[in-house]
Amino acid sequence: MKGAELYDDPVFLAGYQQLRRERRGLNDELEIPALKALLPPAAGLRVLDLGCGEGGLAQWLAEAGAAEVLAVDASASMLANAGQHPRVRYHRSDIATLELALRSFDLVVSSLALHYVEDFDGLVGRISRWLSPGGRFVFSVEHPVITAPVQESADRLDSYANEGPRQRKWFVENVVKYHRTVSSTLAALREHGFQLDMLAEPQPSEALVRRSPHLAIHRERPPLLLVAATLRP
Ligand SMILES: C[S@@+](CC[C@H](N)C(=O)[O-])C[C@H]1O[C@@H](n2cnc3c(N)ncnc32)[C@H](O)[C@@H]1O
Repeated sequence: MKGAELYDDPVFLAGYQQLRRERRGLNDELEIPALKALLPPAAGLRVLDLGCGEGGLAQWLAEAGAAEVLAVDASASMLANAGQHPRVRYHRSDIATLELALRSFDLVVSSLALHYVEDFDGLVGRISRWLSPGGRFVFSVEHPVITAPVQESADRLDSYANEGPRQRKWFVENVVKYHRTVSSTLAALREHGFQLDMLAEPQPSEALVRRSPHLAIHRERPPLLLVAATLRP
């Protein structure tokens, strides 16, 4: 299961929403601060948010002055719970088949959604056409050392070079995510005209682990990969 099938599944959704409500995930303390640190000032920008979920990042960008935010997600359930803002427009679509007008955005963001997309290279090609020259693409995904193992394991890395789908148990059986190496992620960006601005692998500080002990495991290996890139003019 992946995409809308996964996020509209009632058992998965209940587990995921509880995780987010109780702030037990990585999002609030690690991922969102690291992603925001890579974003350009939003004032006046036309923004596209891919896999927006309940729209927290989209609304934050609108509040930070973005001219407009198109927030896209495949899941009806996630969009039904999304918060409203006059400059955020929600659109239900699978990222894999999304088509948008040429040069219609200045910034494309995505928070923890692109590891569900099989054809990353094709998506980066489309994003390069949606962005205006000099536009930015900033995204986070599960780190490839986490997605690589065929058998999920906290202490063993295997199959790193073998890209493709992986099945995991996450609230439900058979959650499908796609493993890609760091180098092929960066190669796709270069191939489609992007230059790399920053790569980040945030891990919790010791002080953060003292406050939030559930994050301790993430000092062992990086849970997240964040990338910021600019489309060459
Ligand atoms: C881990 S959640 C992150 C949500 C949001 N970005 C956030 O940080 O709160 C992943 C989101 O990606 C969406 N998603 C997964 N695969 C998708 C696809 N192929 N097309 C559109 N949305 C997708 C899911 O519906 C879900 O809302």
